[in-house]
Amino acid sequence: MKILLVGSGGREHALALGLHADTFCTELHVAPGNPGIAQFATCHELDIKDNQAITELAKSLEIEFVVIGPEVPLVNGAADRLRAAGIKVFGPSKAAAQLEGSKNFAKEVMHDAGVPTAKSFTVGPVQLEIERALDTFGAPYVVKDDGLAAGKGVVVTTDRQVAIDHALQCQRVVIEEYLAGPEISLFGISDGRNIIPMQPAQDFKRAHDNDAGPNTGGMGAYSPLPWAPTNLEDDVYTQVLAPMIAEMAARGTPFIGLLYAGLALTDTGLKVIEFNARFGDPETQVLIPRLQTPLAHLLYKAATNDLDDVALQWRNDSAVTVVLAAPGYPADPITGGEITNLPEVADTQIFYAGTKREGTKLLSNGGRVLTVTGIGSDLTEARNQAYRAISQIKLTNSFYRSDIALNASVAEKGN
Ligand code: AMP
Ligand code: GLY
Repeated sequence: MKILLVGSGGREHALALGLHADTFCTELHVAPGNPGIAQFATCHELDIKDNQAITELAKSLEIEFVVIGPEVPLVNGAADRLRAAGIKVFGPSKAAAQLEGSKNFAKEVMHDAGVPTAKSFTVGPVQLEIERALDTFGAPYVVKDDGLAAGKGVVVTTDRQVAIDHALQCQRVVIEEYLAGPEISLFGISDGRNIIPMQPAQDFKRAHDNDAGPNTGGMGAYSPLPWAPTNLEDDVYTQVLAPMIAEMAARGTPFIGLLYAGLALTDTGLKVIEFNARFGDPETQVLIPRLQTPLAHLLYKAATNDLDDVALQWRNDSAVTVVLAAPGYPADPITGGEITNLPEVADTQIFYAGTKREGTKLLSNGGRVLTVTGIGSDLTEARNQAYRAISQIKLTNSFYRSDIALNASVAEKGN
């Protein structure tokens, strides 16, 4: 089958490798792709904000199946446009992608589906209403821009004035209670009726070690989680994924694609922090290398209402991924630096993200530049692999966290 994957990040590099490895995929096209993906697939220029351009590219290449990576085309309705042209798509409709596109919409669906989440108020930029909502919950304050904000929409702070200022800058905000407890990411693959949970991963959102610094798109991840409660996947399936899929179907807007549940494991049970309508980045860079089930056929089955009786197979090993970030990330990344010394090491995979090729040179071209995944029999071995590789890469003033999966690997040894 001829497949088109839309996107250009480390997530898409991991997805592209998974699709390419499955014989169900006879020809892989990626748009726009990146220099890492171009090593094994055909890349095409594309403005991913342009639904018509996506559809025309797919038609001109006689693509039978499209996988959409990032949230922007999903929230813009690219999947609807492709489906109207008779092309199968892994990725939700514009209406279903509102689970990521509007925090308030996600709250409404969770409420109707009986899914546990933080108590919240949705308010406009009105000082009095904002203050009333903040004071109902007290510090730490959690203020979320209702709409897509490229990772900059959420402020968690003990400073009341900072919370008020952020809320006043947004058209509509969700102000919610602070959830204490470890955070995990658990993804489900859905055909609109069934949803199959993947294994959980943990993401590191802050820029620097010990969770210091600003929020980012994610600085590293690992899977599996040796410390997680047994039955975690079953609990998330029963309490979160299945009711969400049933509610979306009942509303006449079935969710077909990847439902990303960001969860807090609190003293009073698991609670949803957020939903995304797509694979997470960098969680995908630890999940896809561990997934044994052939990816292309799996996603095609989701796209064609055919996930009855599908169970996922996983490698019995661990994966740790570490993000190499450009200087200044996330506020103001400096791009255009030359990347050299990429090592080729067994059990290590370097996923390209913000990169571009200029002649024979590889240059940085975004905040998150590379994601380096190590695979090992346990987290300690996987960490060692990842850090051995990333420490050799040269990009002036770039940085990475040194504590990805550290606590979990220590705890695992203690078991
Ligand atoms: P989000 O974009 O919704 O994932 O939020 C970004 C980050 O803010 C999350 O990964 C959490 O670390 C934090 N966060 C969001 N909502 C809450 C909450 N209700 N309680 C505590 N932390 C939160
Ligand atoms: N890793 C967080 C995200 O993909 O949104």
